[in-house]
Amino acid sequence: MGCIFDLDGVIVDTAKYHFQAWKQLANDLGFDFSEADNEKLKGVSRAESLNLILGWGGVQVSEAEKLHLMEKKNRVYLDLINEMNPSEILPGVAEFLEHLTQNQIAIALGSASKNAEIILEKVELKHYFQVLIDGNKVSKSKPDPEVFLKGAEGLGLAPENCIVFEDAEKGLEAAKAGGFYAIGVGDPAVLFEADYCIQNFEGQDIHDLFNKVKKA
Ligand code: BG6
Ligand code: MG
Repeated sequence: MGCIFDLDGVIVDTAKYHFQAWKQLANDLGFDFSEADNEKLKGVSRAESLNLILGWGGVQVSEAEKLHLMEKKNRVYLDLINEMNPSEILPGVAEFLEHLTQNQIAIALGSASKNAEIILEKVELKHYFQVLIDGNKVSKSKPDPEVFLKGAEGLGLAPENCIVFEDAEKGLEAAKAGGFYAIGVGDPAVLFEADYCIQNFEGQDIHDLFNKVKKA
């Protein structure tokens, strides 16, 4: 059995840093966007996020300028995540990773972020992961299942023997498209694609969770 984790919104709450960095970029370009709009960027790759944001501002730029804007946003984001520490791990996550390790459950990361490894190092959780698949290792974004399929392949497990943990609708779609069990972390009304939803990882038991998704 294996577990594959999304990073942003599941292990740490980095959405606020992505929001701050993108907002600064939008403001520099002369427009703004709301925190509600930011919800639409969850699980979406850097390039696709930029396209959405430019669309909201009605701004058109060349492909070369897009690369420049993505670099600019990422510099601001890197400055923000550079300050991260283990206090930013979401409730119960560190204990759950330890519980999985004690129960010999394989662990992989399946994240769209190109900064995933730095973040795991900052919050001191990297050593729990046997396999890290991030935005540098995939060519297709969620809802394509590539990131999770590569994670399962790295663990040497079939998708039907893995649970994916996701906070974003696109991520859950990707998990289901790949033939994985999918657990939503957050509001079940929003995460309706999930086989089962949890509010957070506090007190969760992997054998209970496997039983719940198998019955779904
Ligand atoms: C996802 C986030 O995990 O990673 C998105 O939910 C983000 O908001 C994407 O755009 C890419 O992240 P990065 O760190 O490569 O810019
Ligand atoms: Mg996420």
